[in-house]
Amino acid sequence: MKSIVLTVTVLCASLLAGAQQKQPVYLDLSQPLEKRVENALSLMTTEEKVSLCYAQSKFSSKGVPRLGIPEVWTDDGPHGIREEVLWDEWGGAGWTNDSCTAFPALTCLAASFNPKLSLLYGKSIGEEARYRNKTVLLGPGVNIYRTPLNGRNFEYMGEDPYLSSHMVVPYIQGVQSIGVAACVKHFALNNQEEWRGHINVDLSDRALYEIYLPAFKAAVQEGKAWSIMGAYNQFRGEHCCHNDLLLNKILKNDWKFDGVVISDWGGVHSTDQAVKNGLDLEMGTYTDGLTTKGKFPYSDYYLANPFLKGIKEGKYDVALLDDKARRILRLIFRTTMSANRPFGRFVSPEHSEAARKIAQEGIVLLKNDKQFFPVPGGKFKKIAVIGENADRSLVIGGGSSSLKVAYEKSPLDGLIAKYGKDHITYSLGYASGPALYGREEPSKLNADSLINAAVEVAKQADIVFFIGGLNKNHFQDCEGGDRKSFSLPFGQDKLIDALLKVNKNTAVVLLSGNAVSMPWINKVPAIMQGWYLGSEAGSALAEVISGEVNPSGKLPFSFPKKLEDNAAHFYGKISYPGDSINQYYKEDILVGYRWFDTKKIAPQYPFGYGLSYTSFNLGTLSTDKSVYGKEDIIKVRFTVKNTGARYGAEVAQLYVNDPVCSVSRPLKELKAFEKVFLQPGETKNVEMDVKVSDFAFYDESKKDWNLESGDFVLQLGNSSGNITQKLKITVK
Ligand code: GLC
Repeated sequence: MKSIVLTVTVLCASLLAGAQQKQPVYLDLSQPLEKRVENALSLMTTEEKVSLCYAQSKFSSKGVPRLGIPEVWTDDGPHGIREEVLWDEWGGAGWTNDSCTAFPALTCLAASFNPKLSLLYGKSIGEEARYRNKTVLLGPGVNIYRTPLNGRNFEYMGEDPYLSSHMVVPYIQGVQSIGVAACVKHFALNNQEEWRGHINVDLSDRALYEIYLPAFKAAVQEGKAWSIMGAYNQFRGEHCCHNDLLLNKILKNDWKFDGVVISDWGGVHSTDQAVKNGLDLEMGTYTDGLTTKGKFPYSDYYLANPFLKGIKEGKYDVALLDDKARRILRLIFRTTMSANRPFGRFVSPEHSEAARKIAQEGIVLLKNDKQFFPVPGGKFKKIAVIGENADRSLVIGGGSSSLKVAYEKSPLDGLIAKYGKDHITYSLGYASGPALYGREEPSKLNADSLINAAVEVAKQADIVFFIGGLNKNHFQDCEGGDRKSFSLPFGQDKLIDALLKVNKNTAVVLLSGNAVSMPWINKVPAIMQGWYLGSEAGSALAEVISGEVNPSGKLPFSFPKKLEDNAAHFYGKISYPGDSINQYYKEDILVGYRWFDTKKIAPQYPFGYGLSYTSFNLGTLSTDKSVYGKEDIIKVRFTVKNTGARYGAEVAQLYVNDPVCSVSRPLKELKAFEKVFLQPGETKNVEMDVKVSDFAFYDESKKDWNLESGDFVLQLGNSSGNITQKLKITVK
């Protein structure tokens, strides 16, 4: 009897102990992340580890159901959360709960020159992704603006590596603060859409390290990006989605990236290279980007059964598999299984306010003769608004960043709200045809009758706002194709001329993600560069046009007078777009203003340029010392005074020149900027920290950065084309 009692007691005790047995470490939210990762990895089978490394649907990949480890759900894009699609489709699934807030395109964010807005942007879009239960946001993009023809420039942050680096980091920090992974793209050298799937890009190491990599390096090392997207193109003979130099050596070894390399959709072409050259997660294979459905089961993916087979046969080292699985687990534990993952919000008033503020601060006033702008309400009785972009949706189109929105205030909506519908007459003026992907379909409307109707309206008006530009149709700022011309499309130049003939009070407002030619520039009294401004486009534009908001945007890329003035188009086809197999960036480090300065070519409007409704004075440039060591920080001090009658903001820009160096260097390179807000008459003392180490150049003979001692010239101005003060310092 006694033994039975004893047995039962022992049994109960062990059951009790078993019931209280600690959770496996990976589920213990109090455990450090790396411990949870290792524990989860140790519990997984080889099949489960491989299953993490490739897609299970158009935008998702597997978790480990047996262990309760969730799937990875990715979603475009950089400007808002893409609508849900069917399991293996590109088109929308027709859900009714996924209409998002459209934030302005990243060229607009870059044009604000305000990193605080990048943080606001990241948090806002991160909250929308979080609310939609996304693990990874497929953005931001930071490919450098090399040619005005690139179809996707509107998704990126301009021509300067320093500006892109400083504007992308807070965006990533913002997104990831909400427990959603950013996925910086497209790594690397995806600077055009022409032949994007295969073109084999090459360039000097100096250009690679000084121009095309810095924004990605900042995204990884300062932004701490949890994932990065391989680009479609090749670089020195290997596709960027499995490129040993880019992914193993530079990204993972040199930059210590501990996140996940995700392929672009259809960017993987080899099991061997995908296994060995640093790819972690294969998405979208068997699609050529955005136009064909998968014809093969996901288990046929390069990192699926072929990878598993290779592991089992001992062809591939298990350590390679464990590294991929570990990185993907780390991503999951940083997001969906994070102990303190915040909650999101979707289409909130705060997100609208953020979108509007970013749009307001990104709009660039390019020309404003005789104070054409601002146009206060009540000043004119009859205002003509001409142009398709005043009333066309610009949150759709453009490819993978296209959005289904909860609302979109058009420029016409905003102007009517601002000036009253009795004072606004609208005329289409030109027509572009439907927003299609991969092909264009001209409008069926008769261009001449549209112009004649618009001219009639302009004749009767006191003032005319022409609102045109590009529109994210194919070839007009759209993924999958570059622009075919530097000119405005759809007969806009002809229309602008016709309007000016009957009404000289015609201002041009361009909505685009790229520079365009401006044959009418000397006849037009005012020009405003708007971007794809998102859901609050109409409010922001009307507030700037009416003067409620003083424009403070600066160009994140140069506007050349003609295409041939642009560096990428100077050296012929091999430089752009390549010979359809290979391409060489012959302008080397001289991208954007670096080119215009060195070749003494005057741009139409320079990088960093933008007018205001008030005026500013940058004064008394000084530094804390005149001789510095190579690891020192220079305290650059100056004043900014608002010498006009309106509140506004100026962007002080500090460029540096290295007059004596063993290699040729650009005449100036941006090394600091600060946006300063001032009341009329107000003066502020500004101090900027400038790292001496930022003055280094990439020395190909040393295969490393090199900073030669000697004199450097600090150049302060409010545009790359307007340096008002210089100061020499010496580096020992
Ligand atoms: C597209 C784009 C990439 C996007 C992905 C998913 O082809 O290149 O930016 O995030 O596929 O749509």
